Amino acid sequence: MPSLRIEGKGVFEIPTGTRLVNALEANGGEPLHRCGGNARCTTCRVEFLDGEPKKMTQAEKEKLESNGKLGVFRLSCQCLVEEDMHVKVLMPFSESGLDDPGSAPADEIHPKPVI
Ligand code: FES
Repeated sequence: MPSLRIEGKGVFEIPTGTRLVNALEANGGEPLHRCGGNARCTTCRVEFLDGEPKKMTQAEKEKLESNGKLGVFRLSCQCLVEEDMHVKVLMPFSESGLDDPGSAPADEIHPKPVI
């Protein structure tokens, strides 16, 4: 299983193929996911310190390009944990002032990935 280092939280073993946003949620990373993991809100944004996936879903690419953020951060709802990673959650729930992080993302990437 790949290891996921969450900046400031620790290192966790993650089943291969887990959505990154859900792996962060399950291990105290506190990601926001205000659109429910649909590549619409960008609140699940992370900085990769190591192990950034080379693949990017079409939905993530289009969203980041439209916001001028391609190459700045990635959307954890559009990434799978398939190798060792080290990430920093850029908008943690506890610092957001929001009442809830957003509805729970599904187990599978949505919208259907075109990579
Ligand atoms: S873009 Fe909204 S949860 Fe990822």
